[in-house]
Amino acid sequence: MDDLTVARMLHVLAIVLWIGGVGFATTALLPAVRRIPDPAQRLATFEAVERRFAPQARISILVAGLSGLYMLIRLDAWDRFTSLPYWWMHAMVLVWLIFAVMLFVLEPFVLHRRFAARAQRDPEGTFRAAQRVHIVLLVLSLLTIVGAVAGSHGLLMFE
Ligand code: HEM
Repeated sequence: MDDLTVARMLHVLAIVLWIGGVGFATTALLPAVRRIPDPAQRLATFEAVERRFAPQARISILVAGLSGLYMLIRLDAWDRFTSLPYWWMHAMVLVWLIFAVMLFVLEPFVLHRRFAARAQRDPEGTFRAAQRVHIVLLVLSLLTIVGAVAGSHGLLMFE
């Protein structure tokens, strides 16, 4: 078993734990939480689940980023960023950056406070907006996963 395979295993494992959680939040948690009649209870339930998922997501993002960078260096694949058939490489970095900024910068320093305040003022609208953001991020992540598996196994090369 070579180091590239180990990096790939860690990469995929991290993606499963991270994007799997995003999928769960989008299709199960948020729709269920939105049906809780009492707004205070709704916010408390959402935050209790989110608090437990946040460390898993943060660790997974770090492992995915480090293993991805390792493969990039090991494959010496930097020139892919100048080539259109490798759009999935850009997509991976883009998805990673969006989530890293959200979970390491915006969520702890800005979003957490704002979300709670807005959810008290306008519970329906806030949760609707949260679900919309999750749907967009989930679709983008899934397209990236499909593109990355197809691309790294040669399906997207048209020479
Ligand atoms: C800084 C961020 C990232 C970097 C530098 C990176 C880099 C890489 C590299 C170099 C590969 C191997 C490509 C090859 O074998 O030709 C790879 C594979 C892959 N990456 Fe990423 N990646 C990053 C983030 C992500 C994200 C956010 C996702 C998912 C949303 C993702 C999903 C995948 C998948 C599914 C594979 C293919 C695994 C396989 O089938 O062998 N990566 N990545």
